[in-house]
Amino acid sequence: MHEPAGAPHPNDVASDPERQRRLRDAAHRKRRRVDPRIVAANMLVLAEKLGSLDDSAMEAELDRARFPEKDRRFVIQLVRGALRHQARLDAAWTRYSHRPVYAVHPLVRAAMRIGSFQLLHLSRVPAYAAVDASVRLVKSKLGSGVGGFVNGVLRKVAEKGFTATLPERVDGPLAYCVQTLSFPAWLVERWRQRYGDECCMNLCETLNERAAPTLRVNVTKSPPAAVIAELAAENIAAAPGRYSPVALTTARLGPVLGSAAHASGLVTIQGEASQLVGLLARQGRGDSVLEMCAGVGGKSFHALERAHGELRLTTADMSPGRLTRMLGEAARLGLPLPARVAMDMREIPPSWARRFNCVLLDAPCSTFGAIRKHPDVKWRPEERLADVRRDQQSLVAAALEAVKPGGEVVYSVCSCESEEVEEILDFAVSGRAGSRRCRAVDLRERLPESCHAALLPRPSLLQTWPGALELDGMSAFVLEVTA
Ligand SMILES: C[S@@+](CC[C@H](N)C(=O)[O-])C[C@H]1O[C@@H](n2cnc3c(N)ncnc32)[C@H](O)[C@@H]1O
Repeated sequence: MHEPAGAPHPNDVASDPERQRRLRDAAHRKRRRVDPRIVAANMLVLAEKLGSLDDSAMEAELDRARFPEKDRRFVIQLVRGALRHQARLDAAWTRYSHRPVYAVHPLVRAAMRIGSFQLLHLSRVPAYAAVDASVRLVKSKLGSGVGGFVNGVLRKVAEKGFTATLPERVDGPLAYCVQTLSFPAWLVERWRQRYGDECCMNLCETLNERAAPTLRVNVTKSPPAAVIAELAAENIAAAPGRYSPVALTTARLGPVLGSAAHASGLVTIQGEASQLVGLLARQGRGDSVLEMCAGVGGKSFHALERAHGELRLTTADMSPGRLTRMLGEAARLGLPLPARVAMDMREIPPSWARRFNCVLLDAPCSTFGAIRKHPDVKWRPEERLADVRRDQQSLVAAALEAVKPGGEVVYSVCSCESEEVEEILDFAVSGRAGSRRCRAVDLRERLPESCHAALLPRPSLLQTWPGALELDGMSAFVLEVTA
């Protein structure tokens, strides 16, 4: 019997998506996969070497390992957990080691931290699996003698559990925050001086918790109430956020990432504090907008959603890899792909001078307001703050240069440190940022009234301080260019 022309043949894999998926899964099972714990330990080594570990570096490593979603999330959990609890994990394993933390090879340190984190914080991981992966990794790279050392120490941790006595709040903020909550001493001292002992301890406790997943509704597709119903149809409970009119909160990220609502661009994972920054820009239909440090486009796509796609948007970032990730995101959200330029924006090209109605500057920063999601940043050296501030000054000067008279710069950072916020605002309005003159805009008209008392310490400054609110720490202001 002949098949009608064009109909799929029973053996035609290309025409049968279900069969394709089964074959892919089988091939995946067959291929000896790397243990996620080994990838996690290698990432810790990288984080220590670079002084930080950004999402793009992590994503690139995970892509290379070709992990399924479950393993990707396990790696991220291990890396973030080991960095979040680093000091107390070190206190646990060094009790059984004759060598101090920084006298061992970086790979040994990472393997000990990953192993101890599983043994002490993850109840569902069997002890043998936690110990074995660390030992195999070290043995393969540094020889069986070092492997034996890791084996001996981790077996003791598995057997005895956490035996060190940790300071409590009554023992004072320095001991409690450094040893029990794993924050560097210099940062604790800085926050004690600025906020006082009680607030400093509250802040460190909050920054060690997991942030509740928050979604931004893509209003070009559906209003928030309808999206809540769509998610409910997929057994995902979501509720309106507290401050942002387009925010939804939910319990777990995994189900959202696997949902049809996410795949079809109804929602994007974005914290509520970042969403509030997205509401600050005054943007008219067809305005020309530049996002200078656009990353993967979180703020750019929010701007496009607010304008129903009707902006002339240019995005720039010094990382071409991040800009590339916008391709898939624009398609998922059903939004026009912005123009993308990979370059250092501390100086703008001459043709961009006085060209844009609005410049969004989500500046590189200490990221101390987002330690819940990026615990690596607390281990950066203190001196880095000065470099960060220098870059922020250059970037804000370049942003003012790119704006038309009467246009605006929206400056934001994931931080509440005065060097990165108040001092940058003062630098801009005092005229030290170059020839352009500007003034700080009153933000009360731009934000819902529910934000005014809690989030505007003064009318021209948005600040979400994580010690008291269920939000990441963000600060933002808007500069109107007057001449
Ligand atoms: C806070 S992230 C931006 C996140 C992005 N706005 C979002 O919402 O997804 C800062 C970005 O600034 C970029 N960056 C840092 N220094 C830069 C520079 N001198 N010029 C251009 N981009 C820079 C980094 O690559 C990073 O993507």
